Amino acid sequence: MQRVQPIERFEGEFELPGDKSITHRAVMFNGGAEGEAVITNALMGEDCISTCRCMRQLGAQIDMDGTTIKVKGVPQFLNGAQLDCGNSGTTMRLLTGFIAGKRIEAKLYGDSSLSSRPMQRVSQPLSLLGAEIKTTDGHAPVYVYPKTLQGADIRLTIASAQVKSAVLLAGLSADGETSVVEPVKSRDHTERMLTAMGADIKVNENRVTIKKSALKSVDVRVPSDISSASYFMALGALKGKTLCKNVGINPTRTGILTAFDKLGVTYTLLNKRISGGEETADILVEKSYMQAITLSEKDVPSMVDELPLIALLCSFADGESRITGAKELRVKESDRIKTTAELINALGGECEELEDGFVIRGKNKLIGGNVQSYLDHRIAMTGAVGLIASERGGNIYNPECCAISFPTFFEKLRQKND
Ligand code: S3P
Repeated sequence: MQRVQPIERFEGEFELPGDKSITHRAVMFNGGAEGEAVITNALMGEDCISTCRCMRQLGAQIDMDGTTIKVKGVPQFLNGAQLDCGNSGTTMRLLTGFIAGKRIEAKLYGDSSLSSRPMQRVSQPLSLLGAEIKTTDGHAPVYVYPKTLQGADIRLTIASAQVKSAVLLAGLSADGETSVVEPVKSRDHTERMLTAMGADIKVNENRVTIKKSALKSVDVRVPSDISSASYFMALGALKGKTLCKNVGINPTRTGILTAFDKLGVTYTLLNKRISGGEETADILVEKSYMQAITLSEKDVPSMVDELPLIALLCSFADGESRITGAKELRVKESDRIKTTAELINALGGECEELEDGFVIRGKNKLIGGNVQSYLDHRIAMTGAVGLIASERGGNIYNPECCAISFPTFFEKLRQKND
């Protein structure tokens, strides 16, 4: 249990950990490439450690030292690997695609949360390329069998970077051309990194086309994660002023800024630059009066992991906010529609669950109280922000799950300037 006290003014400059999505990809893709690569500012969260462990089992050489990871790749993975993906959906879904055309057998399994998440969303499109993948009633464990893949044109019904990436990674070893089309564009780190590694890949709006390619290692400097920064950005908006440094602002990830625009939060992007094929900036956020907002399906992919926090911010806004088209939240590390609504209500707010989102009646404040993390890192960190900004503070039960994406979260919170 973690006691969290309200803080009158929250002000400071923060260096946040490396981006989770980019770290996963840098380790995984370099692990299947020809050559050696150095990844710096990598996230050493539990999910990325799961990817490191799996890549080792597949034969790659991975050396971790602080936030630097050295990877020596193996273009042909070892047969018969039993891959423990821990809590990480990205590890399991992307690896299933990466292994599918490598003519090996593998088993991918995970913890109880990961074992309850849908895996047919990857096995089904991969089967259209000729892959043989068995799930356990649509869930993990997932078994991959050796098959020769044929390129195909795949239309996804959900906007998911994990599913898109699984298909593209399988497409690397499929004969001919593989295309994947998404209903709304999701994060494009896979497309960017595969391009940098020499893959034959083309992007045309929501369609990505890839041809059989071998990967060459590439060094990656990982930007700080906007999803981790978002908690500190929110505290700036609620309680003072924060500067988050070197944050990735890839346009497929900046939905939190779209939400800030609608809420009326004052922010500035400073020191914009490009680092390793990804845009970065320092993000300055200042205390702001917020108004109610409406968000719908087209807004969701670029802010999917920030939606619990955005819903919490709506409690501090004036009026009734409505977030829809976010059914995907039901199949994250927890059912985030349910757990976010329970969190906000436990803090004295008013949040009603919809099948695909929330209605939040903003009262410009939260009172405080005791909240659960539901063993979901994003809910734990959203809870901490809510308690800091609340009138009375309270406790978070099982806060340790922050280590999935942000092991130093509570230490960083204490780093604010008094
Ligand atoms: C991720 C994609 C998103 C996101 C997850 C990371 C990725 O999941 O929620 O935290 O790195 O590709 P979906 O693809 O299921 O939307």
